[in-house]
Amino acid sequence: MMNAIAFLGNSTMRPSKCILRAFTRLSPYRDTPFQSHPSRFPSFINRNINANSNKFSKPRNAAPFCTDRPSSVTTAQVVSEARTTSASTTCTHDQIIAKNGLNVKKPLTVEGLKGDDEKAEEKVINGDDKSSIDRDDLEGVKRNEIEEEAWRLLRESVVTYCESPVGTMAANDPTDTTPLNYDQVFIRDFVPSGLAFLMKGESEIVRNFLLHTLQLQSWEKTVDCYSPGQGLMPASFKVRTLPLEEDKFEEVLDPDFGESAIGRVAPVDSGLWWIILLRAYGKITGDYSLQERIDVQTGIKMIANLCLADGFDMFPTLLVTDGSCMIDRRMGIHGHPLEIQALFYSALRSSGEMLTVNETSKNLIKTINNRLSAISFHIRENYWVDKNKINEIYRYKTEEYSTNATNKFNIYPEQVSPWLMDWIPESSRCGFLVGNLQPAHMDFRFFTLGNLWSIIASLGTPRQNQAILNLIEEKWDDIIGHMPLKICFPALESAEWHIITGSDPKNTPWSYHNGGSWPTLLWQFTLACIKMGRPELAEKAVTLAEKRLQADRWPEYYDTRDGKFIGKKSRLYQTWTIAGFLTSKQLLRNPEMAASLFWEEDLELLESCVCVLTKSGRKKCSRAAAKSQILI
Ligand code: GLC
Repeated sequence: MMNAIAFLGNSTMRPSKCILRAFTRLSPYRDTPFQSHPSRFPSFINRNINANSNKFSKPRNAAPFCTDRPSSVTTAQVVSEARTTSASTTCTHDQIIAKNGLNVKKPLTVEGLKGDDEKAEEKVINGDDKSSIDRDDLEGVKRNEIEEEAWRLLRESVVTYCESPVGTMAANDPTDTTPLNYDQVFIRDFVPSGLAFLMKGESEIVRNFLLHTLQLQSWEKTVDCYSPGQGLMPASFKVRTLPLEEDKFEEVLDPDFGESAIGRVAPVDSGLWWIILLRAYGKITGDYSLQERIDVQTGIKMIANLCLADGFDMFPTLLVTDGSCMIDRRMGIHGHPLEIQALFYSALRSSGEMLTVNETSKNLIKTINNRLSAISFHIRENYWVDKNKINEIYRYKTEEYSTNATNKFNIYPEQVSPWLMDWIPESSRCGFLVGNLQPAHMDFRFFTLGNLWSIIASLGTPRQNQAILNLIEEKWDDIIGHMPLKICFPALESAEWHIITGSDPKNTPWSYHNGGSWPTLLWQFTLACIKMGRPELAEKAVTLAEKRLQADRWPEYYDTRDGKFIGKKSRLYQTWTIAGFLTSKQLLRNPEMAASLFWEEDLELLESCVCVLTKSGRKKCSRAAAKSQILI
């Protein structure tokens, strides 16, 4: 029953008179990690339920085990304000602004989101005095206009819940009559929006987002009679409006944990992004009280516990199904895809930084540190390829049976396909981390987000990180082309496309997830370039994007090998395209802020890797071996 009740309460939260109603399906009592926190909010909950006994009904504990959504929906009532209990009322509206007759979000006014600083300095746009910059520079004026439009669109995409901003919808195209779930707030899509707002000094929306999604984490969720692990964050949520008596409405948050999503994909990355954004919130606002809250600490622990749970796996990396991240359709990335590993690594690093050290957290922190060392060693050692390594794989012996095997994963040299031999630059200054690694399977495709995020999180060695950027520079036409940046390279074609994507008509060669170009990746590229001291590379990419994004109406993705066309099925006015662009601009203007968003090499972690490995008695596990991992 506890997990049917989530609680948002803090004296620093904006006073609200809403009762937050949550759809939830309750399943029978299970032995879950959540039960190790039986008193997540004990005193608050009891106090509030008692204080409002006339308004709160106890969540039912004996709901049917497996039922369909509409009939199984019960209402768990949750209070948004711990300390404003006496006057709680249901959040109702007389009028809801509807979009295409489907949408229940009410766009927030620009004023509603303006930061204090901004109100005081209306004339200053994005840190520059509008009246003095680029006065005679038409190009500059145009650039400002593009940025202003982007800000306007970003603000228009804001979703409110009980009159507070809680996120941004994935796309906001007024002409789109079938938005599917693009009118929802996606956790991963909100990250660049959140960063753009934070860097602009508008933190309220991010704080609300973090707290409301935390609330959703505690819900029971069921897909075909099975409940995924506690701690899972939804892929997205929607603010729904339910009619009450007369002309009144009440708002409810309705999450999608994959039970409605196309393909029923598990959003493994959502919780990881949540942790990353929570850390960014603290770093940028300087308000660390949010991450110190007991409910937030519990949220971090639940995500970490879920990811760190023991399984059958032989690798320290996280084993996931296809479609569990930004690429949320079948694309042959099940197993140990780089993107998830890089996010996992950063989320663990963030958790290590944010968890309050005490008796209840010390074992978890130790587990986190051990896992971090193991992941970084595993990725640096086994995912890295450059020309020499590929040549080594090309000459691999196979079927080696011993702990000393060179070809540990039994990769057959035939997997080194002709495209790779042509594509990999001659110079050892260029290289990249492969997309996936498991027994007899090395996915040599270049996945951009995983590689960029490995740079940002220092998952790669300093030399590897630099070499990834060198590769992107060297392969500019392939990765950037007409529009930054290609989601992966190369595309799956012909029989491979049939077999691996299941003949997905959206993921045809050089479209969408299959080699399409996604402008949202610009902000991660910018952050990686700034980290490696190469902002000029990012400037070049941003300038390129700037030339087309506004004119093309901010598409979700582009098609063709060099990103020339707006994607066949691409949404327009895609929020993370807009936010990614704005975030890149802000990062380039404020490199010191960028510095608070990435991670430097942690030598202590690598030292502990030496110890772990030394104990296991493997030959390679010397201090020198680990040092070489640090310094190369
Ligand atoms: C697509 C993308 C996914 C994104 C969603 C909403 O499904 O693959 O990464 O979160 O659209 O924009």
